[in-house]
Amino acid sequence: MDNRPIGVFDSGLGGLTAVKRIINLLPHEDVVYFGDTGRVPYGNRSRETIIRYTKEDIEFLLKYDIKLIIAACGTASSVALDDLKPLFSVPILGVLEAACSTAATTTRNGRIGVIGTSGTINSGKYRELILTLLPTAQVFEKACPLFVSLAENGHFNTDVVRIVAEEYLSPLKEAGVDTLILGCTHYPLLAEAIGSVMGGGVNLIDTGDEAAKFAKRLLDERCMLSDSDKTGTCSFFVSDSIENFSVLGSTFLGRPIELAVHKVSQ
Ligand code: DGL
Repeated sequence: MDNRPIGVFDSGLGGLTAVKRIINLLPHEDVVYFGDTGRVPYGNRSRETIIRYTKEDIEFLLKYDIKLIIAACGTASSVALDDLKPLFSVPILGVLEAACSTAATTTRNGRIGVIGTSGTINSGKYRELILTLLPTAQVFEKACPLFVSLAENGHFNTDVVRIVAEEYLSPLKEAGVDTLILGCTHYPLLAEAIGSVMGGGVNLIDTGDEAAKFAKRLLDERCMLSDSDKTGTCSFFVSDSIENFSVLGSTFLGRPIELAVHKVSQ
């Protein structure tokens, strides 16, 4: 048993998709979240910068005696984790493995779409992993850089999101994908708009959600689940103003988080 907290980070709000699932699946775990809102977005930055930011995010969380880190960021997971994991002794989970494994085992027609930031799509990591798991798959990728800014500004299912989604997603729809990996953890915030463009037959895979399920299995296998009988606590740290994050985060998590959000300099 290990009652230390789980650390989760993202460039902003997106990693809350993983936190929401952790609260639900592992209600006795404490969670420390870091959203690097002062430097969001990561997805259009150079590889070197994404690696540096990701390293700093991990180092920040390690101050809280963390037992497991979830890099709840598709960009950090695909661009930086291969380089950074060997530098730390704490287990670090990215979001790619669980999402690709679910996509590979649930697709019916083998046509899998992946959307993500430019950094994620250019890294080719999702494609590589899907083809390792299912060599006969056909993978269709599309960078959707505007989605992160829309989500960070509270546009979850508005007309502007639907117009942008139509523009980005029509090639994937035409390709006949039956499974779409939301390869950036911000995108589930826009899932209604994305789902309405793709149509009901397309299975949307939420990478934050899949990573949380994977984390539960991993902690269980390693006998690292908390044995506390109290409801776990959640603390949130951001590197820019707390107001926007608190309001949007409370809406998304379905509970007020204002008092648990703190600003830090990063
Ligand atoms: N939520 C992130 C991701 O999964 C970050 C997006 C960004 O900062 O550009 O890629």
